[in-house]
Amino acid sequence: MSTADARWWRDAAIYQIYPRSFADDNGDGVGDLAGVRARLGYLRDLGVDAIWFSPWFPSPMADAGYDVADYRDIDPSFGTLDEAAALIAEAHALDIRIIIDIVPNHTSTAHAWFQRALTDASYRDRFWFRDGRGAAGELPPNDWGSIFGGPAWTRVADGQWYLHLFDAGQPDFNWDNPLVREEFEDVLRFWFDRGVDGIRIDSAAMVVKDPALPDFDPASPPDPHPWNDRDEIHDVYRGWRRVADGYPGGRALIGEVWLADPQRFALYLRPDELHAAFNFDFLGCPWDAKALRRCVDETLDAHAAVGAPATWVLSNHDVTRHVTRYGRTETGFEHHLRQTRHLAPTDLALGTRRARAAALLTMALPGSVYVYQGEELGLPEVEDLPAAARQDPIFARTGGADPGRDGCRVPLPWSGTAPPYGSGAPGWLPQPADWAQWTVQAQTDDPSSMLSLYRRALALRRAEPGLGDGPMAWLDAPADVLAFTRGDGFACVVNLSGGPVDLPAGAVLLASGPLDGGLLPADTSVWLRVS
Ligand code: GLC
Repeated sequence: MSTADARWWRDAAIYQIYPRSFADDNGDGVGDLAGVRARLGYLRDLGVDAIWFSPWFPSPMADAGYDVADYRDIDPSFGTLDEAAALIAEAHALDIRIIIDIVPNHTSTAHAWFQRALTDASYRDRFWFRDGRGAAGELPPNDWGSIFGGPAWTRVADGQWYLHLFDAGQPDFNWDNPLVREEFEDVLRFWFDRGVDGIRIDSAAMVVKDPALPDFDPASPPDPHPWNDRDEIHDVYRGWRRVADGYPGGRALIGEVWLADPQRFALYLRPDELHAAFNFDFLGCPWDAKALRRCVDETLDAHAAVGAPATWVLSNHDVTRHVTRYGRTETGFEHHLRQTRHLAPTDLALGTRRARAAALLTMALPGSVYVYQGEELGLPEVEDLPAAARQDPIFARTGGADPGRDGCRVPLPWSGTAPPYGSGAPGWLPQPADWAQWTVQAQTDDPSSMLSLYRRALALRRAEPGLGDGPMAWLDAPADVLAFTRGDGFACVVNLSGGPVDLPAGAVLLASGPLDGGLLPADTSVWLRVS
């Protein structure tokens, strides 16, 4: 690949593959690298610039691969290191970059260091082992709860406890220990040496803890926090940036940073730290013109202050699919509300119309854009998975109160009219019986399909010089209509007003739905050539 476009991450369209659910080549019900390799042509035709793989490392799958047992290998259910090397080479030949998911906050209880720590006290300082409270140490060392529900501490055979902010199968690393820092810089080199173009950093803001491990203070602001967004964390990422910059053309570092404060968020994007971070404010934003405009402005202001490109994300493997969200009364997303919104009445036709309009908005905004697998097919959330099929630890750790994230992780439908839709075996999560209309096969030649819209929009986004990185300017528009220009002669208009509005003068390049003469219908977006 040429290094001339070393700043590709500033405006790339990045497709997220959740390996277990993308494409199953060997017919064991679980997606694999061979399945991805067989479908690289699909991704080229879709028009993406890069693929981000959710973790592909050996893992007991306590949290679907986010419990990594070995950071330098591939899980046997996915394939081998040689297959990963072939995949990277084949993707590069198609001009598609590869981003992998590194999980630095925690590992797996199956990781060699943790196994050793169980019997060798000298290894315990790589994690957070502590004696318990109470007369016999029978109580956890502090009051922190796991993000997945239940306590954040689990006791081992000799009576000590270890910290895990997520599942008990995911012990947290102690980043105050220089061995942990060295190990991860070496893991980065391992993958960069194999041609990986960038990494997505899981739970990036949680890595450093207050070493005193104080009880949670409900009166203190959310960030910084005893385990979130501590100032010392920036040294970690400065070290990673030095590693990334040591490669010709550099390598991209993209953080999963959930923070309420845009100014603190931007600190991660200073020129000597991460290149980009996911925009969860936009992902969670309701389908509402004022809220979206505020979000866009705040995002661009915060990023401009540090010279970083914004990212635009509608869905990922952790959140309710946006076709479903946008078809409800409450269109925003917040993790703690997943449980109360589960199975809320949903108008899928409305949600799909809005999702189409949102795709054109997202792809017209300045910066890079993410597409979560299946979003290009318009897949809805699967909400009626049987309890016995659910595998997300959130479901078990909340005693079934929170359905968890399995509903957005159901294997993709490729072809045919019944499950497993082109795979050799039923998927690890059951696919709905009524997904025939959403298969790749059903949508490929249908000009009105979501897939056709994504293909045309991504192709235009690539061809249009004003899109991607660069400035934007808001245009005057009727209430609850978002209208802005990019570059010289391109405009995007999004109608969230609930009724038709006049279409501005210009030639239509692409519309998310049928236009009504000179009118732009509700929940419809248009890209225009304007003079
Ligand atoms: C991130 C991942 C999520 C995972 C968690 C723990 O939020 O996106 O899927 O469960 O980290 O690794």
